[in-house]
Amino acid sequence: MTQATALNLDDIPHPPLTPLVGHTLDLLRDPLGLHMGAAATYGPVYKVKVLGQWRVSLGGADALEFILGDTQKLFSSHDGWDMLHTLFPGGLMLRDFDDHRAHRRIMQAAFRKPVLDAYRARLEEATEILLEDWETDSPFKFFPAIKDMTLRMGAAVFMGLDLDDPRAEQLSSAFRAEVAAATAVIRKPVPFTKMARGMAARVMLTQQFSMMIPERRDNPGDDFFSQMVLAADEDGNSWTAEELVDHFNFLMMAAHDTTASALTKVAWALATYPEWQDKIIAEVDALPVGPMDDARLASMQAADLVFKECLRLLPPVPLIPRRAVRDFQWGNHIIPAGTWVSATPGTVMMSPEHWTNPQEFDPDRFGPEREEDRSHKYAWAPFGGGAHKCIGLHFATMQVKLFLAALLKSHRIELADDTPVDWARVPIPQPKGGLPVVLRKRAQPSSP
Ligand code: HEM
Repeated sequence: MTQATALNLDDIPHPPLTPLVGHTLDLLRDPLGLHMGAAATYGPVYKVKVLGQWRVSLGGADALEFILGDTQKLFSSHDGWDMLHTLFPGGLMLRDFDDHRAHRRIMQAAFRKPVLDAYRARLEEATEILLEDWETDSPFKFFPAIKDMTLRMGAAVFMGLDLDDPRAEQLSSAFRAEVAAATAVIRKPVPFTKMARGMAARVMLTQQFSMMIPERRDNPGDDFFSQMVLAADEDGNSWTAEELVDHFNFLMMAAHDTTASALTKVAWALATYPEWQDKIIAEVDALPVGPMDDARLASMQAADLVFKECLRLLPPVPLIPRRAVRDFQWGNHIIPAGTWVSATPGTVMMSPEHWTNPQEFDPDRFGPEREEDRSHKYAWAPFGGGAHKCIGLHFATMQVKLFLAALLKSHRIELADDTPVDWARVPIPQPKGGLPVVLRKRAQPSSP
């Protein structure tokens, strides 16, 4: 056994502390930057102080596997994601071990293949209709536009409402308030703060969702909400109404901003590297006429490479928090029970240990000739790993490809100006100026 030299947290190095706030503001400003800088200076094991608590980071792909794979059941996801407790209690990610497993088995029913096929048809239709509202030849900001689109699609595909149902806008804006509150600095619902608005929105959403349950039980549709009402595991276990509402509320949060952030990076990539846009356009033009199916989605391989590279360069979830439930040893450190521990897929995905010129946009690194993502099971982990690995990863990939197919079959995308794009990392990675773009009608391929 390795000799332990750090019997408590004191021996673990940390960047200089700002009086009173520690590293809280650095983390709020640029979490990945803070971690990349600390890892470069102190090596893979270091700590940062956030809201008065030390959080230990274990860097590297092996540590990612150790924390997320969690074969010894050492790490609580519920305790790690403490900032979500008030607004998203009972969500899948906020459950641990056997309880989490039991709930995930039920949720799996809403992600079965036939159900995903039905969501695909709804998504495809909704994407095409919503894209008709986007203007050609006049600049607009991509990030707010795609956020709005994913939320409106959420009303259709997740809640099963018509795109023009008046409840859709009301639910979407309540939902926006709830998500904004999750990362608010003031954590108490003091009147007029984000937290107060978020809590009020949560009350309204849970009431609305509760009212939808009997309606959908009697008349289920091919939307997530209906499928979650029907969901049962192989032994017939299902959720109470309260559990169902909490799971749905969490699912909406987990699905939307992550996908909107990823699609924005993809749009940036297409506009910045037109040669990759050309490759995807060629794939889209080669699709047979008719609705999408698995084979058609699978044929969009350049789209796959670009999506993977965008998630590597700007992962929507670059840091994954956990809290140790028992003392554990990592290398020569002994970390006590109760310590917050961060897994850092964002730094692993930028590590020269696994990636050639990691800062460069180079989707071919995922191609069959290089397969840099295969250098370690956790080298590429934008969807996490282990028991909590993103349950929506196939849905997200499908949504991105459907969007690209719908957009690029008739348009090209360009940046509206030459201003370099600066990316904010919090609360979700996004371009600081919103990413002004212009859509141009494109020449159609000549028929054979
Ligand atoms: C590009 C888009 C997405 C990214 C990058 C992403 C990323 C992640 C990551 C990293 C986790 C694991 C967090 C942890 O271990 O603590 C996660 C969990 C989760 N994601 Fe996603 N996600 C995306 C889209 C979606 C979508 C579209 C859905 C639903 C349709 C979804 C539903 C969930 C749920 C329910 C969990 C919790 C799983 C569990 O705890 O068992 N995500 N996601």
